[in-house]
Amino acid sequence: MRIIRSVSEIQEWSSAERRAGKSIGFVPTMGALHLGHAELFRRSVAENQRTVVSIFVNSLQFNNASDLEAYPRQLEQDLLIAERENIDVLFVPNPEEMYPEGFSSIISVGSIAKNMEGLHRPGHFDGVATVVVKLLNAVAPTGSYFGEKDFQQVAVIRQVVRDLNISCEIVSVPTVRDEYGLALSSRNARLTPDQLAQAPQIYVLLDEITKMSRTTKMSSRTIQEHFTNGIESSTAGTVEYIEIVDSLTLNPIATTYEGTTICVAVWFDDVRLIDNVSI
Ligand code: PAJ
Repeated sequence: MRIIRSVSEIQEWSSAERRAGKSIGFVPTMGALHLGHAELFRRSVAENQRTVVSIFVNSLQFNNASDLEAYPRQLEQDLLIAERENIDVLFVPNPEEMYPEGFSSIISVGSIAKNMEGLHRPGHFDGVATVVVKLLNAVAPTGSYFGEKDFQQVAVIRQVVRDLNISCEIVSVPTVRDEYGLALSSRNARLTPDQLAQAPQIYVLLDEITKMSRTTKMSSRTIQEHFTNGIESSTAGTVEYIEIVDSLTLNPIATTYEGTTICVAVWFDDVRLIDNVSI
């Protein structure tokens, strides 16, 4: 596995590969790799002749300085995981090169980025869109892989790629969960043992709601109450939001139908977890 740290070097590598007719799959990450990331790597490796993974903790997408500081960083361990997954190139750009003094262009995404994560983490999706476009320009992949765990993020990236004529296929990959249903996340490492035992309740409730709504149409209000009461009565977590939205437009809806997604954010102390299920 080759490690590349500069934008010009990855651009040279990528254009040589593309000239040689190779397809390039790309998985952007912020590191602290787990089996959820590995699932994206495996899809890319299976579907492309070359796979690039980037590790870059993108300061621009953190709306909270302490969250950025607390974000887990473990490059040594990440190298081993990437190597084991048969990645061809690990791209680890320098913050100074990504955001040099005088950097001042930000991609601002419209309505699809305004509710849910966009509402509760102001500026978050501008930071995500900006870094992803920078990374896509550096790596110039044929396809790029994103996890459905960050449901709104995939929608935002699809919008940006379409709007800005970036020629790259966006592939979304189902959420990987632990044996109790908890969606894998780099932030899970910050949960206490008690919180870790309680957090799977997020998915237990979402799964319960999905099953109920398959047989009966449910109002968004009923779902919101069921989920919030369920979390707050049986765990120490607090619900930041539960939104029931159309899976394509991400607009809030009143009653569930096929093509609805339920998105949630729940706090356990100072750790914020998100999850979603589609009906
Ligand atoms: P990060 O949180 O490191 O996630 C990198 C990719 O892994 C994202 O596409 C995310 O959705 C996916 N992922 C994380 N947990 C997953 C799980 N349990 N199952 C499936 N996929 C999972 O998302 C980011 O980084 C950043 O916003 C980034 C896109 C890299 C831009 O900075």
